[in-house]
Amino acid sequence: MDKFLINGPCKIKGKVKISGSKNASLPILAATLLFDKPVIIKNLPRVRDINTMLNLLRSLGSKIVLSKDKKTAKILNHKNMRTFASYSLVKTMRGSILVLGPLISKFNKAKISMPGGCLIGTRPVNYHLAALKKLGMNFSIKNGYILAHSKGRLKGNIIKFPKISVGASINAILGACLAKGTTILKLTALEPEVLDLTKFLNKAGANIKWSGRTCTIEGVNSLSETRYSVMSDRIEAGTFSVAATLAKGNLEIKNFDPKVIKTELELLKKAGAKIKEGNNKIFISGPEKIKPIKNIKTQEWPGVATDMQSQLMVLMCKANGKSTITENIFENRFLHVGELQRLGANIQIKKNKAMIKGNTKFVGAELMSSDLRASVALVLAAMISEGKSTINRIYHLDRGYENLESKLRNIGVQIRRKK
Ligand code: EPZ
Repeated sequence: MDKFLINGPCKIKGKVKISGSKNASLPILAATLLFDKPVIIKNLPRVRDINTMLNLLRSLGSKIVLSKDKKTAKILNHKNMRTFASYSLVKTMRGSILVLGPLISKFNKAKISMPGGCLIGTRPVNYHLAALKKLGMNFSIKNGYILAHSKGRLKGNIIKFPKISVGASINAILGACLAKGTTILKLTALEPEVLDLTKFLNKAGANIKWSGRTCTIEGVNSLSETRYSVMSDRIEAGTFSVAATLAKGNLEIKNFDPKVIKTELELLKKAGAKIKEGNNKIFISGPEKIKPIKNIKTQEWPGVATDMQSQLMVLMCKANGKSTITENIFENRFLHVGELQRLGANIQIKKNKAMIKGNTKFVGAELMSSDLRASVALVLAAMISEGKSTINRIYHLDRGYENLESKLRNIGVQIRRKK
């Protein structure tokens, strides 16, 4: 298993170009199952989860031609596609559940492995199933598989989500696109990735309108040939913004819309970062002294993204004073805390709240990755630790960060991958 060797502490400066968004690419690739004409998706990030989704589409029968740089996919489906998503594929990437909506809408049947939980939580899909049921999907769960079918075309309906859910909102939108009649979704997730999906679908002839958290979808008969470039990855942009704030950095972070991390950039300014916004880029410099921030709380968009929580925790470890971070989205998303404590952090956990003492002197150590975002927090901490750190099981990072080590090396981090 690959590992990262990092030698700290380092100061970072230079430029970094943000790649395409993993969490916008996955629903958009799943949505291509709704097309029976060619569709071209550009700006895909070269990360493992995208490969997994492309392999899942191939296993369903999609013909996929990738560009040389693997960032553009030309996808063509045919009439009798398969509608089975195996456990072996789904277990490596929970986002596979997003093919359920398109398969049931287009082919009126699907057999998909239940995604199961992951380290950050049980990750149920009950809201996905309930929403598609309201559109006319019948299902049962047997031997860990969802056996779904519908009597003919799905029918529009009114769906009020019990709680805001990105995945359930996506599945419902994909189920409603080609349904007969109107679907109204209430308490819909507004994450930029969900909006990028509806922008893509509308460009292909879907009829989706937003008013606050209400999403109205007029079913259409088919989607037209189209090409679309996926938005940039806001979590990658946020991660590099934290890196600059943490390591007295001087960074130009380009190729993304600063609006998508407005809340997080406000937090970094409170911590002392100087940020100048440009056209599709920001210039950010880190302070000599990092200020603590009282109760940071993760929230659905437009609140502080849960995918930024672990990175912000590393920053607060270096702040000169006490701070707290409350995780409101997932029930077990403090897996990075144990590893940070091994680097010297002083963090107390009480239920979903972390109290961070600050003024930590990180000393390099051997570390273990757990989930995608916790792993990048370890990279940030190792980057500013005294001495050498080894980060094991970095396949977690390869799921969601494209060329992370070369991007970090180019801005001054002493990091290398050891096979
Ligand atoms: C998406 O996960 C992202 N994944 C996550 O990013 C992200 O952290 C999350 O949204 C929140 O923004 C992808 O886009 C592939 P949810 P998702 O449904 O859709 C509960 C990463 O690192 N829930 O908004 O699974 C759920 O357990 C990943 O890239 C139900 O109870 O998130 C959680 O507590 C990690 N029943 C909360 O809702 C359901 O049917 C929010 O989950 C669905 C969700």
